[in-house]
This record gives sequence, structure tokens and C-alpha cells, in this order.
Amino acid sequence: MPESIVILTGAGVSAESGLGTFRDAGGIWDQYELEDVATPEGFARNPALVHDFYNTRRENAALARPNAAHEALARLERLLPGRVTLITQNIDGLHERAGSRRLYAMHGRVDRAVCAACAHCWPSPPQLSTQTACPACGQSTCRPDVVWFGEMPYHLDEIEQALRRATQLVVIGTSGTVYPAAGFVEVAGQLGAYTVEINLGRSEASDAFDRVIEGPASEVVPAWVDEVLESW
Ligand code: APR
Repeated sequence: MPESIVILTGAGVSAESGLGTFRDAGGIWDQYELEDVATPEGFARNPALVHDFYNTRRENAALARPNAAHEALARLERLLPGRVTLITQNIDGLHERAGSRRLYAMHGRVDRAVCAACAHCWPSPPQLSTQTACPACGQSTCRPDVVWFGEMPYHLDEIEQALRRATQLVVIGTSGTVYPAAGFVEVAGQLGAYTVEINLGRSEASDAFDRVIEGPASEVVPAWVDEVLESW
């Protein structure tokens, strides 16, 4: 089987770009109730609160810059064409801005909007509100194009294909608590892939990996990329 590296990233890869993680101390889920801002039921109860939450996240993402970890992963894809697939749970768009192209944003993108009435999807204005009209059908039923708890992540078929082909799965900066992404290590491992976790410290999922690399993503990801390229 030809070498195929699949990489899964989470909020930790963007932490050094200044974007908060969810479950670290003082993280986003310490400041908000997940049920209020990241579920369809929360949106139905209080759409203005949910729009405010994502308007802030959209603004923070727009102001952030990709860090050395995002850039190293884009470099790896460039130097090993066709051999690297990136899957991210992040909605911040920083991997795209760093240059990654073979990329599945499984939880959507905060800089895109989608109409709940006609499913039209378009680049979000900086602020979405209950007054924002869909450019296709004119209804004011817009929401950020992100995947909430209880909803189906994007690109699951393509991701499954990639996991089946993977000879190596590398999981970077995620707590490994949200499924289906948290289950990728078991799927890939059972299919024979070598599994690596890169995280600031050990996570709940660390025991499931063949190798664990601890440290800040902006330092250890470029070092891991150099190691892969040297041994290729
Ligand atoms: N370098 C590497 N890892 C880091 C860094 C860093 N500088 N900073 C934090 N981390 C690690 C933490 O140790 C933690 O394991 O990143 C992980 C972040 O975990 P979470 O906050 O749970 O984020 P994530 O795993 O991406 O969350 C998954 O949950 O709320 C939902 O939809 C949201 O996509 C998100 C999903």
C-alpha cells in the first residue's frame, strides 16, 4: 500500500494563533453553555445569542494568523503531493489560509453562512443576525455553516475513504472527546495505520496511540514534519 498520511487537527493547533480552545481551563466551554450555543435546540431557543457567539468567533478567526504548525502541515502537503490528507474539526479557516488544499473541514466554516430554508451557502458577512436575508431566497433564516452537537459532520464518506487508505494517522491538538473524530484513532489503528498523537500534554485518548509527542503545536509540528520529510 502506498504511504498515505492522514492528519486530524483540533482547537490546539490554533491555540498559538490566539484562538481559545474549548475544554482547557478557561476555555470556551467554561464561558458558555455548550447546549445554548452549539446545538440546534439552543439556536431555536435563542438565535440572537448563537449569532453573537459565532460573530465573535468569526471576528477572532479573521484577526488571527496561521501559526508555524498550520504552515508546516501545508508544506508537508506541498512536498508530498497526493500523500497527505488533512481533516480538521476547526471552523476558523486557518489551515486554508496557510495553504492546505486537500482538506476536510468536518465541522464547517464560521466564515460561511447557510440558509435553513433553501440550503443556499455563501460567504458570511462579518455579522450574521436574525435579520440577515438569504441572497438566494430572501428568507431571514440564516445560520453559520457550522456543525452543531447532534448534527452530522461534513465529508464523512471522504474521511472514511482516507482513513481506510491511511498508513499513518496523526492527531494534533484535540482532546479526543467529540465523536466521530475521537474514534478515528481506533478505526485507523485497527486497519493497520501507525498512529501518532501530538498535543501539549497527554490527552484522554493518549493510550490509544502508538506514539505520543508532547509540546506546543507551533514547535513540535514543524519538527515532526521535518522528521517525516527526512525519512521519506
Ligand atoms: N499545542 C498543542 N496542543 C494544544 C495546545 C498547543 N499549543 N493548546 C492546547 N492544546 C490541546 C489541549 O491539550 C487539548 O487536548 O488541544 C486540545 C484541545 O481540546 P478541545 O478544547 O476539546 O478542542 P477540540 O478537541 O478541537 O474540540 C473538539 O468540540 O466543542 C466542540 O465542535 C467543537 O470542534 C470542537 C470539538
